[in-house]
Amino acid sequence: MISEPANATLRKNIHVSDSAAKAAVAIARKISNAIKQHQLIGKTFRLGLATGATPVPLYKELIKLYQQGDVNFKNVHTYNLDEYDEISFDNPNSYHGFMRENLFDHINIPLEQTHFPSGDDPAAYDREIASVGGLDLLILGIGSNGHIAFNEPGSEKDSPSRLIELDASTIADNKQYFPDGDMPTRAITMGLKTILDTKTLVLMAWGDSKASIIAESLSCTPSADLPASFLQDHPNTLYFLDHGSASKLS
Ligand code: PGA
Repeated sequence: MISEPANATLRKNIHVSDSAAKAAVAIARKISNAIKQHQLIGKTFRLGLATGATPVPLYKELIKLYQQGDVNFKNVHTYNLDEYDEISFDNPNSYHGFMRENLFDHINIPLEQTHFPSGDDPAAYDREIASVGGLDLLILGIGSNGHIAFNEPGSEKDSPSRLIELDASTIADNKQYFPDGDMPTRAITMGLKTILDTKTLVLMAWGDSKASIIAESLSCTPSADLPASFLQDHPNTLYFLDHGSASKLS
C-alpha cells in the first residue's frame, strides 16, 4: 500500500535521506545551531531526548561536533522521554544508563542539567517543563505500534506524564535488550500534552520495519489508536526518514 501524507505542510516537512547517518548529520547541525543561537542571547536551550536504536546515529554526531569544538552543552538542559519503572539507574538497560553511555559521558553537560520523569510523581515532570516555558526541540522515535515515548495506543493527545503498562508489542520489541528476562513491564512516560507543547518536534525512523507505521501515522485521521498520528496536527514536526522507512509513502 502506498499512502499519501495527509496535507501539503506535512509533505514539506518530510526529509528523506540516503541513510540514518546522513540524516543524523543534518539533525545534529540543526540542534547545534539552535544551541549556539541560544548561547548568543544568554538563554538555556531545552532539548528533549529519546532512547532506543533510532537516536544512536544522532548522538554519535552530536559527540563528534562536541569533540571538534563546534558545540558545547553548558547552556543545555535535557529532558528524557521515559524510563522503565522499578529499574536501577546503574542498570545499563535503564534509560539513565543508556543516556550516559550513548551521550552524556561524552559531552560537557552537567548531569544535574539532565532530567527524567520520576515514578514518585510523574505529572511533576509536566509542571516542571511548563514552568520553564516548554521544550525548544524534542527528538522522537516511533514504536512499531505507533507509540511515541511510551504513550502506547489508547493514549489521548492531552495525556499527562504518567506510569503506563507497556504494550505486548513493546515488550516483544525491547526484550532483546534484557537477555536475562528481567524487562520491566511498566514505565514512566512523558505525556502527549507536554510532547505536543514542544516548539519543534523531530521524528526519526530508519529501515523497512518502520515503513508501514510511518505511512499509516502520516495518512490516517489522528487518533489515540496511533499516538504518533497526533504529530500531524503539530505546527512544526519535522520527519527525518531513510529510503526504507519512507518506502510506503508516495
Ligand atoms: P527503536 O524504538 O528506536 O528502538 O526502534 C523506537 C520506539 O519504540 O519509540
